[in-house]
Amino acid sequence: MITVYFLSTAKDGSIINKSFHTQTGQSLMEAAMKNGIQGIAADCGGLLTCATCHVFVSEDWSSNIPKASDEELAMLEFTAIPPQENSRLSCQILLTKKLDGLTVTLPSTQY
Ligand code: FES
Repeated sequence: MITVYFLSTAKDGSIINKSFHTQTGQSLMEAAMKNGIQGIAADCGGLLTCATCHVFVSEDWSSNIPKASDEELAMLEFTAIPPQENSRLSCQILLTKKLDGLTVTLPSTQY
């Protein structure tokens, strides 16, 4: 089991920090959906065709995650919020023991 953290901004501007313990061997998107994280739509179910599972990976963690594939980079062009250098599609992040403590921030919208 590892712990992952999802940060988001509430309407009043405060930061919401939600975390959960989860199994490795699944994508970050799958773990988020199973654990009721609001703000990940994942319309395509992980087929890399929707870009509604967009997250921003905290700088500390960027080097621990394999680089995005060309297909993921292409799909990042279609996120609702303009992508940043630390943008990833959470369906493409495979959770491993190395990612215990992974922290990502949710965009304000996926549409
Ligand atoms: S769930 Fe559709 S691209 Fe990630």
